[in-house]
Order: sequence, then C-alpha cells, then structure tokens
Amino acid sequence: MTTPSFVSLTRDDSARWYRLGVDNGYEGRYPYVWLRDNCRCSQCYHSSSWQRSSKVADLDPDVIPSSEDLIDDGRVMRVIWPDGHRSYFSADWLNRQRFSESEKDVVSSPELQRWGGELNRNIHTFDFKKLLQDDQELYKWLNVLTTKGIALVQDAPQEKGACQQLAEKVAYLKTTIYGDQFQVSSKNDASNLAFTNIALGLHTDLSYYNYTPGIQLLHCIVQANGTGGENQFVDGLNVAEQIRREFPDAYKLLTTQNVNFRDVGEDFQTYHMQTSKPIIEYTKSDDFDRITYNDTVRAPYMTLPVEKVTEMYNAIKIFNQVMYRPENLVHHRLVAGEIATFHNSRVLHGRSAFTVTKVGSRHLEGGYIDWDEAYSRMRVLREKLFGDKRL
Ligand code: OGA
Ligand code: ZN
Ligand code: ZN
Repeated sequence: MTTPSFVSLTRDDSARWYRLGVDNGYEGRYPYVWLRDNCRCSQCYHSSSWQRSSKVADLDPDVIPSSEDLIDDGRVMRVIWPDGHRSYFSADWLNRQRFSESEKDVVSSPELQRWGGELNRNIHTFDFKKLLQDDQELYKWLNVLTTKGIALVQDAPQEKGACQQLAEKVAYLKTTIYGDQFQVSSKNDASNLAFTNIALGLHTDLSYYNYTPGIQLLHCIVQANGTGGENQFVDGLNVAEQIRREFPDAYKLLTTQNVNFRDVGEDFQTYHMQTSKPIIEYTKSDDFDRITYNDTVRAPYMTLPVEKVTEMYNAIKIFNQVMYRPENLVHHRLVAGEIATFHNSRVLHGRSAFTVTKVGSRHLEGGYIDWDEAYSRMRVLREKLFGDKRL
C-alpha cells in the first residue's frame, strides 16, 4: 500500500474548514478548530505519551488560519495560525480521520453471531499452550469471544493457576469479593450456592455489580467422580431477540424495568453488594449491550411500583422459559484441563447437580478478565499482526 498524498486543498472560511482531496479519491473536510486542537508539534502534543498537552482553555473555536500549503509532494499540509504557530499534518494521518464516516472500531463493535443448540459439540476450541505462545491464536480466541461469546480452551494443566496464566496473556485477573481466582467446590458454610453440589440455573456471574466482570474463565481441575456437574450455556442475545419478536410486552418490561440484585456475606472480604438494572439492556442505538440474570441473587426487596410486581414476575418467567428452550441450549461436561471461557454479560451459564465423593471431588477454578483490557490487548495485537495504524 502506498502512502496517500493530497491532490487538492481549498479553504472555506464561512464553514471554517478545509477541503482536502486525497490521491485515493477521498475528499475530506477538516474544521479549522479541530486542526488547531490536533496540532502534532512538541508544544501541543507529547509524543512519548501519545497525549495532547495543549488545552481547550487556549483554543479559539472560531479560529481562522492565516495561510496553508501542501509540501513534501503533497504528503504534508502546513498551516500557519494568526499567532504565527505552525502545524504540520501528514496526508497518511488526516486520511484516516473521517469523523462520522469513520469505520466502527472493529474490536469493540464486532458483528455479533447469534447461536443456539447447533453449538453442541461444536464450540470453538483452542489449545492452552498455543494461546500462551502464539499471538495469532490469542487474537483468534479473543475474536471468538467478542463475536460468539464462548470458546473452550483445552489441555491446560490440571492444577490451580491456569486462569491466571491465560488472563495474564491478555491483562490481569479482575479481583472481586470472591478474590482473584476462586475455588468452585463443595464446601461447608458455602458463601455462594456455586460452592455446594446443587444445580445452578442459567445465570450471569456477579449480577449485583454495576461494573460486571466481562469475560469469565472456568477451569476444570477435577470433574465430578460419578454423575452430574455438566454445564449448560445459552446465548443471551439469541434469547433477547426471541423475546423481542414473540413477547413484545415482556420485552419492553425486561429492557426498561430495573431488577434488584444483591449479595451479602463473607468470602475474600465481608460484603454487601447491591445494584439494580434491567435484565436485558440494549444501547441507545439499539445494539445488544448486556444481560443480567441470576435467580440466586435477585434481591427480596423490589423497588418497582407494587402494582407492577406480578407483571414483572410474568416477564421474568418468560425470560426463563425462552432461555431454557431445548433448541437454545448448549450442554458441555468439562473434562479436567478444559477451561470454559465466555462473555459473562452475554452468555448465561449453569450446571447440573453432582455427587460429592470423599476423594477426587469436583473442583473448578474461576477468574475474570474485563472487556476494556481485552479490547486493548486486541488493538495492540492488531497493530503487531496486521499493521493497524493508530488514529
Ligand atoms: C459459578 C458457576 C459453574 C460450575 O461458580 O459461578 O457457575 O460448573 N460454576 O460449577
Ligand atoms: Zn502546535
Ligand atoms: Zn456462575
């Protein structure tokens, strides 16, 4: 790919922007104030930190440049401002600044792929060691987590610490009220229903967090010796879309009415967590955002008008029924050394009850990574692997 150069430059002082034609056919408009704000000289921009050092306090939104020209065979535009300050902009960089015509961030706005039961025995798999050693593979895994929301990592060591090793290829584990890595096994006086041998309905973890952990890692160190302990997964996006189409009234309630969640007790620390949010959330531009659902930590107190309580239960019941449609469910019984990895606010997970044995009882280790850091790692990897340029 050749570096772009400018082929034309016109000023429009009434609109207060330049029109710049690029030799690739693109014609961009660049407002004067934006150019002044993004001057890349060492006085205005601190290059080692990639951060702006100039301040809005010193910026005149109505600034009109004194003069301009194209230099270096059209590869650079020079602007001279009324106070004599000079700015230089490369065509290569300006060509990528397209305001509302810019492409969406490929990392954080992926094309989501809905799924249902067809993923049974068909979940994308990755090899633990390869993920630790191969950046291409690491990027592919994160990409599957952004688009599908679920992947299996196989052949991890059958001992504690694998979640941390994997998380540290991305960023680091998120510490929560259950610590950074938590042990899922049947315990006396369990601080969470997960730490017993009873079945867990489909749920998102830490529903009572406002900043809910993004990616969940569940590493099977020992699977139940005997029956049970199988996991179930469902695509919350698929569930939400089915409810939207088939039960519009319930959908309205589930997307607008806050539900209270809480967790009280003692584990890594003593805690009393509480928050409220709708079970299904879409963004203002109608993109799927997140699901929050867990029967075990739905708070007993409800802050909705009392007249709405029964209607709300009916809507929650619909959510539950659609979620459990057999065609929506994926079942997988983890084998020792496998790590289930999934988008915690999109893919709901559950497990069937299991038998506790004196020796070799079921033991999973869990941990979380947040999406902000996962996206950051993906951008860093894209730059390294595909030559993506920074904006
Ligand atoms: C959990 C959980 C699943 C399992 O710890 O939150 O969902 O298979 N565990 O034990
Ligand atoms: Zn400057
Ligand atoms: Zn869970």
